[in-house]
Amino acid sequence: MNINEIREQFPVLDQQVYGKPLVYLDNAATTQKPLCVIERERDYYLHENCNIHRGVHYLSQKATEAYEHARQTVADFVHAKEAREIIFTRGTTESLNLLATSFEHLLLFSTPNSQLTTDSQLSTLNSQLKVLVTSMEHHSNLVPWQQMVQRHQGQLLVVPMDDKGVLDLNRYEELLKEGPKVVSIAHISNVLGTINPVKEMVAMAHHYGIPVVVDGAQSIAHHPIDVQDLDCDFFVFSGHKMYAPMGIGGLYGKAEWLEELPPYQFGGEMVDTVSFEKTTFNVLPYKFEAGTPNVGAALGLETAVQFMQGLDRNEVEKHESQLLQSAIEKLSEIDGIRFIGEAAHRSGLVSFIIDGIHPYDLGTIIDKMGVAVRTGHHCAEPVMTRFGIPGTVRASFALYNTMDEVEVFVNAVKKAVMMLR
Ligand code: ALA
Repeated sequence: MNINEIREQFPVLDQQVYGKPLVYLDNAATTQKPLCVIERERDYYLHENCNIHRGVHYLSQKATEAYEHARQTVADFVHAKEAREIIFTRGTTESLNLLATSFEHLLLFSTPNSQLTTDSQLSTLNSQLKVLVTSMEHHSNLVPWQQMVQRHQGQLLVVPMDDKGVLDLNRYEELLKEGPKVVSIAHISNVLGTINPVKEMVAMAHHYGIPVVVDGAQSIAHHPIDVQDLDCDFFVFSGHKMYAPMGIGGLYGKAEWLEELPPYQFGGEMVDTVSFEKTTFNVLPYKFEAGTPNVGAALGLETAVQFMQGLDRNEVEKHESQLLQSAIEKLSEIDGIRFIGEAAHRSGLVSFIIDGIHPYDLGTIIDKMGVAVRTGHHCAEPVMTRFGIPGTVRASFALYNTMDEVEVFVNAVKKAVMMLR
């Protein structure tokens, strides 16, 4: 892998901030975009812009074909069986809101009234509404499910983790026996970097007949994804964390599940026939894509996928793992450092705090040295509570980062520590 050549495709990296070369290590929040992605979106607006699935004219048909081609490319990338199993959404958060809302309707409101003859039957149904998540979820994979169960006096079941940030699979199995209707788990934690054994966890849930959602927001840019091999029922992801534009992402769902789930939003394109008395819905995937989609961003997402497919993904994994190992080794030299997340299987990022120093102060000082990291709770407050800390400093890596940047980052942290002590 020629990092210099790759970096040339990311002009944003080639700049100075506060007179220092930018070292961008906030890739878990969003990755930068290569020129090919930026140009693809621009080209769409320059030459192809049109509403899709609606017009008989040339431009509309061309844009429709391009959009559906993008869907096929994404389907192939995650190894879905069929393109109709990919729903374009705004990203992970929207995909998870879609699932929580749709499951709520399927489980509670789709039961014919005639079958719920008494209040007590309804209340039993409500109290049986349980959803299982883990203690390391970011808010996107927690709040939608929490709100959904709380609306019905149901219960959120939470798999605990140990001090290294490893899930307790024995407890997971016990919680599965409590009969959650859905399991929704992070593939990789955005705070701890832990790679969860999702394939094993899916198999365990399926043993009890429970569907599993895998939140791939932090995994899809770093590791090849094969949804058929994982056998997950759903897999959600954001484009902007995988070199694609903001405002686009996806939901993979097994066709049989997507057929069964009711629509999430209503409007144009997701309908088949409409009268004032009744509406029937379109087939997959359109049933879940109400209104005009973000076509330009979907084409940018396709280009981002092709950009990644053009690289040796094993090499990318190896490179990113070397960056991480080097950062951990060098940071370990700092007195009073505490790593948050020390699982044997981790990827993409390192989170830490340093005795007596607030993460925000550290982040602000190294920013002035050109180093961009994220500080705070990383949209995962319960993880902070679990570790009894206000936040962490998090450095997260992408394929364009270099060993030299790791060096600059660690030296900046060391200098900041000297200044703050
Ligand atoms: N969830 C994103 C992060 O981890 C925004 O930074």
